[in-house]
Parts: sequence; structure tokens; C-alpha cells
Amino acid sequence: MNLMLSLHNNQILLKRRPTGWVTPDDFESVQTPIPSLSAGQVLVKNHFLSLDPYMRSRMSDAKSYAEPVKLGEVMVGGTVGEVVESQHPKFAVGDQVVGMFGWQTYGVSNGRGLQKVGSAAAPSRIPLSVWLGAAGMPGVTAYAGLFEIGQPKAGETVLVSAAAGAVGSVVGQLAKLHGCRAVGIAGGPEKCAYVCEQLGFDACVDYKSPNFRAQLKAAVPNGVDVYFENVGGAILDAVLARMNNFSRIPVCGLISDYNATEAYGVKNFVAILSKRIKVQGFIVTDFAQIWGQAVQTLADHIEHGRIKTHETIAEGLENAPTAFIGMLKGANLGKQLVRL
Ligand SMILES: NC(=O)c1ccc[n+]([C@@H]2O[C@H](COP(=O)([O-])OP(=O)(O)OC[C@H]3O[C@@H](n4cnc5c(N)ncnc54)[C@H](OP(=O)(O)O)[C@@H]3O)[C@@H](O)[C@H]2O)c1
Repeated sequence: MNLMLSLHNNQILLKRRPTGWVTPDDFESVQTPIPSLSAGQVLVKNHFLSLDPYMRSRMSDAKSYAEPVKLGEVMVGGTVGEVVESQHPKFAVGDQVVGMFGWQTYGVSNGRGLQKVGSAAAPSRIPLSVWLGAAGMPGVTAYAGLFEIGQPKAGETVLVSAAAGAVGSVVGQLAKLHGCRAVGIAGGPEKCAYVCEQLGFDACVDYKSPNFRAQLKAAVPNGVDVYFENVGGAILDAVLARMNNFSRIPVCGLISDYNATEAYGVKNFVAILSKRIKVQGFIVTDFAQIWGQAVQTLADHIEHGRIKTHETIAEGLENAPTAFIGMLKGANLGKQLVRL
């Protein structure tokens, strides 16, 4: 191994399962030796770690669509980095790769699930970190939920919550490219200004405003045809009142409930019946068959400036726990990452 590299792997483990809000004490930081490679393996130095809301549910052992992280295990997470040693025929030193190495500075892989996005000779065509955001899992989530489930038609109104975040920002920009009216919901006037002025949404409503319901009504004069749901709770109830007959709701996330000890539920459920709304939950991995095509389309849009991206970057693995908690509370604008 190259002696210029660190001799240790810094890792953050899950120490205990939170009840209610996550705290920094739920994590533990350790250093372990970097393992030596066997035939068919690669060693990757991770440059960026993605912080995503789904990690909150992996900290819990409640029954879910995915296995929880075990206590004492490295926290799960997407990473992008560079191959620094290879005994794998398909990967060379200098290859840039996206993987699921979790909250650690190095990872060893047999190549399965490793996505090559550049090499020493032909570096990635977009910034490496963007493969964790708009050209990665959150981008595919936006693409699949919007087009496969929401099925918007040009001229329709698409509304998305958490609009200034990783998924929401892509949903609105894809809706605009598709010829729709794009309206966001986000927390605070600054996020709303970013969504309209930088991302080109037609309107954005601040859910923290005391006049939220009235402002929402004014922002969707023709009602809502597709509501891309990222947050749930009282926002969903307010939106249900604005949905059109035969509208669609791809249910992507319910972040307002992730740290709650008691779920809010849906009070305005009757609207789903009376307006014949189609509601479908989804997990992005359901769409493995369109993943490659979605990534290609998104990367093209980003490369040519048709989709804009923004990142909030915490510096150093040791700051991952506080950055993660901050993201769950809305401290991020765009994609939350950690530079390793
Ligand atoms: N189904 C899937 O396969 C899939 C895949 C990826 C993501 N998701 C879901 O998509 C949603 C967005 O994920 P992301 O990665 O793009 O995160 P993100 O939007 O970049 O960050 C989370 C945002 O949620 C908002 N938020 C937090 N608490 C809230 C509350 N009580 N009410 C309203 N908004 C709140 C905050 O924005 P504000 O400042 O605007 O409040 C925060 O910035 C999450 O629900 C996530 O679980 C689902």
C-alpha cells in the first residue's frame, strides 16, 4: 500500500438506538487498521460521505423495508472516492467510484455494487460529490417518483415538499423541464428564495409562516396534479385540501415523523376518496431497472446546466453526527455531505 496514505481507517459506529431525536452520543468514533487486500478486492479512499434521512430508520430496530444497522457496526451510507489499491481486474488505481462504504474513510470491496464514474485518464464529467446527490440516489429518487408514479403532463402543477433539499430540488427542476408548473414547500424565506431564484421554480411556500395555508392556496391557483411527498404531517393535510380530482401523490418520505415518538397520522384522509387521488409509496431501489437511464439523464442535465445543484458540506468524519442531526432539522441547503 502507498505509504503516503493514512495507516488507519477512521470509522463512526452506531453505539445505541435513539428514542426520539438522535444525539451525538448515539455514535462512537474508532480507528481500525486498514485491512490488506485479497485477490479480487479493491481498497477505496472515500472523499465524500452522503448523509440521508433514511439513516435515521436504520438506527432503529423497528420493522422496516431494510435491515437496521447492528449496534457496534459502521453506520450505513453512500460514499464516493478513489481506488488506491487494486487486486481486481476491472478496477485500477485512480478510478473514481461510488459505493456504500458507510461512515468511514476507507472501504474494501469485491467490486459488487461499485459504480465507476471516472478514472485517472478520464476524470468524472461532473464534480465527484454530485454522484451522491442529483446524479445519485436522491436524483434517481426524484426522477423515478416523479415520472414513474407522479406521471405529470405538460401544463400540470407539480408540488414538492422539502423543496430546497437533495430530492425536492431535483423534482421541481425535472418538472419544469417537463413543461409543468413547479411549486415548492420549504422551511423559511431564504430557502424559498433559493428555490425560486436559483432553481427556477414558479413559486415556493414557507411552511413555517403563520399564513402557510393561505399562501399555499394562492401558489396553486389551478390546484395540484402531482404532490411529491417528502415530509408528511400537517403539511400533507394542508396539501390534500388543494389536490385536484384524479391527482397523484408519490409518497417518497415522511421526515416530520422520523424523530417523533408519536406519529401525526393523516387527518384529511377523506380527501383521497372524494378527489380520487392515487397515493403510492415507493423505495428508490424498486426502480433498479431504470437506474442507469435515470443517472445518465440526470448527469447530462447537470453537465449542461439544466439542473443546478447546491451542497452543504461538513468538514471531517468527526463532524458527521452533528451534520446528520442538522440535516434532519433542516440546517442543510441542497445535498448534505461530509468531506472526508
Ligand atoms: N423513498 C425513497 O426511496 C427515498 C429516497 C431518498 C429520500 N427519501 C426521502 O425524501 C425526503 C427528502 O430526503 P433528502 O435526502 O432530499 O433530504 P433533504 O431534503 O436534503 O433534507 C431533509 C429536509 O427535510 C426538511 N424537514 C425536516 N423536518 C421537517 C418537518 N418537520 N417538516 C417539513 N420539512 C422538514 C428540512 O428542510 P426544511 O428546512 O425545508 O424544513 C430538511 O432540510 C426524506 O423524507 C427522505 O426520507 C426517500
